[in-house]
Amino acid sequence: MSKRSKSSHRWLSRQRRDAFSRRAADEGQISRAHFKLEQLDGKFRLLRRGMKVLELGAAPGGWTRYIEDRLEGSLLIVCDSRPVSAGSETVVIDTPYGEEAADLRLESLLDGPELDLVLSDMAPNMSGNRATDQARSMYLADLAAEAAVRWLKPGGDLVVKLFQGQGFDAWVGELRRSFDTVQLIKPQASRSESREVYAVARQFRGLQ
Ligand SMILES: C[S@@+](CC[C@H](N)C(=O)[O-])C[C@H]1O[C@@H](n2cnc3c(N)ncnc32)[C@H](O)[C@@H]1O
Repeated sequence: MSKRSKSSHRWLSRQRRDAFSRRAADEGQISRAHFKLEQLDGKFRLLRRGMKVLELGAAPGGWTRYIEDRLEGSLLIVCDSRPVSAGSETVVIDTPYGEEAADLRLESLLDGPELDLVLSDMAPNMSGNRATDQARSMYLADLAAEAAVRWLKPGGDLVVKLFQGQGFDAWVGELRRSFDTVQLIKPQASRSESREVYAVARQFRGLQ
């Protein structure tokens, strides 16, 4: 890409990002992340009433509110050590997933693998060192996959934020062994210069 087209690409990307930030503010959304889930849900029809859902990496709560608005009366468990703006019906686990306390809490809430959907928008604190950040984000993707294997019922779905880089292809290949389909998608609301994509894995095959 030429220098000039690179900078106009950046400009366009900033404009689009700002448009989503403005829309989030105008509509009173908690975060612009709301639009990413809206776009994923619009394409894949992920949410259905009566579902049992676990959301990992939920703060500040953009996805949480989106789910609450659509799944009234369903079980929604959200997990983040940062404060999540959640409705009174939503169960909040305020320890990081990966710590024993989080799984103990899930054990107390669930009768084994009974979730319909696990969503992870978990992201590490970025250090600026590309290799370190990539390793941290792959670790979080591993945690999300472990949560799915432990708590999803057969036929359930998993959505995971991933960053393209070292370990990405192998990780997606591994996921394809446990789900009937795995699609990779970058929602419009995601910054085009970011390496972020979402893996949408459907129809968990269950523990084999
Ligand atoms: C991009 S934000 C999520 C935005 C959220 N989906 C929304 O709509 O507001 C990423 C979140 O992942 C959380 N996170 C990172 N590691 C985590 C872990 N091990 N368990 C739970 N949450 C984690 C961070 O605290 C941060 O709040």
